[in-house]
Amino acid sequence: MVVAGDPDASYLYAKIVGAKGIAGESMPPGDSLAAAQKKTIKDWIAGMKPASAPAPAATPTPAAPVPSGSSGGAAGNKKAADLEVKVRKLFDDKCSACHEAGGSEVVLVGDLGHLSRDKSKDANKRFVVPGDPDSSYLVNKLTGKNIKGDIMPMGDDPLKAGEIELVRSWIAALGESSGAGEGAAVETPPPAEGPETGGGAADGGEGDEPAPERGKPPFHGTFQINLPTTTTLGRRSFEFRIDHRFGQVGTERGAFGLDAGANISYGFAYGILNGWDVLIRRTNSRKGYELGTKYIPIRQEDGKKLSFGGYASVEYLRDFPSNTANPWAGNFQLLLSRLWFDRWSTQLTVGYHLRTNHSANVQVDLPDDDVNGPVKVRDKRGTLGIGIASTVWLGQKKRWGIDLEYHLPIPADVFFYRGGNADRNGSNIGSWAIGGSVNTGKHFFQIFITNTREIHTNLYAPGGQSKNPFTDRGNFFFGFNLSRKWSL
Ligand code: HEC
Repeated sequence: MVVAGDPDASYLYAKIVGAKGIAGESMPPGDSLAAAQKKTIKDWIAGMKPASAPAPAATPTPAAPVPSGSSGGAAGNKKAADLEVKVRKLFDDKCSACHEAGGSEVVLVGDLGHLSRDKSKDANKRFVVPGDPDSSYLVNKLTGKNIKGDIMPMGDDPLKAGEIELVRSWIAALGESSGAGEGAAVETPPPAEGPETGGGAADGGEGDEPAPERGKPPFHGTFQINLPTTTTLGRRSFEFRIDHRFGQVGTERGAFGLDAGANISYGFAYGILNGWDVLIRRTNSRKGYELGTKYIPIRQEDGKKLSFGGYASVEYLRDFPSNTANPWAGNFQLLLSRLWFDRWSTQLTVGYHLRTNHSANVQVDLPDDDVNGPVKVRDKRGTLGIGIASTVWLGQKKRWGIDLEYHLPIPADVFFYRGGNADRNGSNIGSWAIGGSVNTGKHFFQIFITNTREIHTNLYAPGGQSKNPFTDRGNFFFGFNLSRKWSL
């Protein structure tokens, strides 16, 4: 490959200048190196002592000051190549949605070597200046310093300090390889560079290997379908959401219930601190308002083994007294969740819901009253409930999910008349929903089928409205949830 002291006999050099007699194209393919760069290589080879020294053993390591340094070249800088693998993983996760090959934005998937050659059209600066992270426009776009346009990733939270550090140390390592080519310091790969994997600067979660993988919350949405998840918005972020539940699929009205009118909820949520959100929402069902707060002190996305916290809310239902009893109600839920293998989200919820029976016509035949027959009463009891939620994330970028949730009121049959329950005699099978979701940047969209037309906490807590989903040509409802997030 390299004949020490004799560039013209070195195949490496022949490949670079495209000399006669090489197999295949000259390297790098397409655009060849600048004359000065070729000369650097030539001088380096010429300057080598012919086969002396303690056997530089086929020295592939320090060789090849190919400017794209990284690009997985066998002769490239091993450290830069290792870091590039991690940077690619990070970019696949956070940037590829908009920076794919063939798109109009700079390509950030696959080989990243071109970034050392290409310049930003907007800022006229090189994306990567090997060895100099501070002059690399790619880094500027991540920190927001001296940039044209938006900070990256666009529409998403900025990268964590540890992730930016990874990009910086990759660029720094690229410089070590081209520096090595200048002749000096050939045999010194490791010095400088304190925080090896770039993880050093980060908040030190236990996953010591796949550093960029950290930071994925167990669930993408702040609610699964009805159940709150341990996902919070993050400090100074807004979320607007719209939830819809259509009419019964098997209804006479047709169109799978879409013509039958919908239960709708509009909500605003705000992240006061990381892990602490407040929300207000309004639904047309019983003209209900819900004012809630979610506090998740332990978060897997911040390096813990799981996420744990709670949700509490008060509700006010202001429809007519003739159809809405117990206008004030409240809810407490504990949430415990974990994301497994980055693909499988699970959550367990235990909740207590106060005054869940909103029917204004509760009649009961009191056992110690033989005279009057059934009398009107108000049922002020609460409901204990256990919920499970789960999502499996699909696709390379884990943006598509299969979602499921189930909420079981316990004990199921204690109500005189279960709030909102269409079938007085059936035993309550709880509330279920199954569907699919897609998460793109700051949008989250879900469609599903469910036996529960209610959306707000105190209204779904007593269980679903329909039982056997296969009776009546489709005894369930279509629904969708849509949310959009903004960071201030
Ligand atoms: C939601 C889409 C989206 C995501 C996600 C995204 N970008 Fe961008 N990026 C853009 C758009 C659009 C532009 C051009 C406008 C601008 O610069 O603000 C851009 C521009 C850039 C530029 C400057 C290009 C130039 O020619 O000046 C860099 C560098 C960049 N992005 C890096 C990244 C990195 C790194 C990530 C992931 C951490 C990322 N982007 C994630 C949409 C996105």
